[in-house]
Amino acid sequence: METYKILDGKKISDEIKKEIALEVEKIVSNGGKRPHLAAILVGHDGGSETYVASKVKSCEEVGFASSLIRFESDVTEEQLLATIDQLNNDPEVDGFIVQLPLPKHIDEQRVIERVDYRKDVDGFHPINVGRMSIGLPCFVSATPQGIVELLRRYEIPTSGKHCVVLGRSNIVGKPIAQLLAQKGYPGDCTVTVCHSRTQGLKEMCQSADIIIAALGSPEFVTKDMIKPGAVVVDVGTTRVPDSTRKSGFRLTGDVKFDEVAPLCSYITPVPGGVGPMTIVSLMMNTLKAGQKILFN
Ligand code: GUN
Repeated sequence: METYKILDGKKISDEIKKEIALEVEKIVSNGGKRPHLAAILVGHDGGSETYVASKVKSCEEVGFASSLIRFESDVTEEQLLATIDQLNNDPEVDGFIVQLPLPKHIDEQRVIERVDYRKDVDGFHPINVGRMSIGLPCFVSATPQGIVELLRRYEIPTSGKHCVVLGRSNIVGKPIAQLLAQKGYPGDCTVTVCHSRTQGLKEMCQSADIIIAALGSPEFVTKDMIKPGAVVVDVGTTRVPDSTRKSGFRLTGDVKFDEVAPLCSYITPVPGGVGPMTIVSLMMNTLKAGQKILFN
């Protein structure tokens, strides 16, 4: 049995936060504007509350200004769109996000497309998605960018490797598949995207050098699916009820860590893997938004 190494997203994200903080100090001491991230949070979903709280905390850590705009879940689509228009036109705000998911009576796609793509630090606007897919400068959505950054910092070889992506969401599966297939490092992978209708998924995984598990299905990936020496990246963060925890739940990944890890060369933990990398990627995007370097 090989000994596996942890892809430590917490550690790497702390390093990147320090790098961003230095950059912010430089900008401000040269008389520049402190980058400002705004977040819109609708309702009181536990996961969303947690994510937004750690985004705000990360802003403080790197020296960004931040604002949190809250609505109850009965907010109308018109109210939400009007707030987005205000943020689009507010020169103080460099970038902003609308935390998803939104209540069912609100058209999520309409909200996403209302955000000025130059302030769309989530990278969800079709202009950013399209630019990413043809390799142009853009805001790349945070989770796939965080994964790529984690692979880069650990110098994981990707060229010519078979990467199996489990899941085809707009936020993770589709963009990570495109990024890893792109020319250059980390990329040049041969990518297979698997989903709920895939036939022979287990065999596909068995031939994978890199598995990106982004299904949201707790402990879906088991040891019989792993090629010895594979790199496994776990994007899952399902809240599973756990009466032994103070919170009443534990975060559970898409990978059955205890049995899969011994087969891997590298693997991400949950929590402490992709999660912190996602947050810090949003900070990287906000820094770029403040510097106005992506779009002319
Ligand atoms: N919900 C789940 N992931 C994300 C994300 O990256 N950004 C936003 N805004 N909402 C999310």
